[in-house]
Amino acid sequence: RKRLVIAVDGPAASGKGTLARRLAAHYGLPYLDTGLLYRMVARAMLDAGHEIRDAEAAALIVNSFDETAFPEERLRGREIGEAASVVAAMPAVRAGLLARQRRFAAQAGGAVLDGRDIGTVICPDAPAKLFVTATPEVRAARRHKELLGRGEAVPFDGILADIRRRDARDSGRNDAPLKAADDAVTLDTSALTVEEAFAAAIGIIEQRR
Ligand code: C5P
Repeated sequence: RKRLVIAVDGPAASGKGTLARRLAAHYGLPYLDTGLLYRMVARAMLDAGHEIRDAEAAALIVNSFDETAFPEERLRGREIGEAASVVAAMPAVRAGLLARQRRFAAQAGGAVLDGRDIGTVICPDAPAKLFVTATPEVRAARRHKELLGRGEAVPFDGILADIRRRDARDSGRNDAPLKAADDAVTLDTSALTVEEAFAAAIGIIEQRR
């Protein structure tokens, strides 16, 4: 079977992770959640006692952190998402994470990667690119539910403010800003169930592979 790379990009809590995971299972491909890499850098910065805006410290950490050191529950919290978007705006951090993402995508059968810049920077030649969106309110409601499930009771308005701030930071940075690649297909999941979003994604991918 032909090699298949699927790039899934989109803003925070758009449903891209859930979708990418399901696509990987469907096609039998390895999956990389690239947001976790930025979250690991942020976690390592905070654990080492660095100010999250310290770009010099981040440039060292990105080349030395231990990818196996962090259980996922230490990476998924509310403050780590915020801290990850701060380090993700640093060119040295993005450069430091580039090679391992490209290596992952280069696996023999292909791969599914999700993030902000997979279709634009990491895998510009991917045949199948999805840009997954939803309204800020729908995304905040999803994140609210997810955090409640983890035992973090945060007011909805606070989460909506987080989402808007993270959108602005991810879209406004100079290096690899969040945006749809020219050849990406946008999938608005605001009114879709997980099942419907998955079916729509399969339809798009099957046309392009
Ligand atoms: O996707 P997730 O919310 O886990 O990503 C955390 C942060 O990492 C994002 O807000 C974004 O700033 C950054 N990120 C990125 N490029 C990627 C994946 C994540 O800049 N490919």
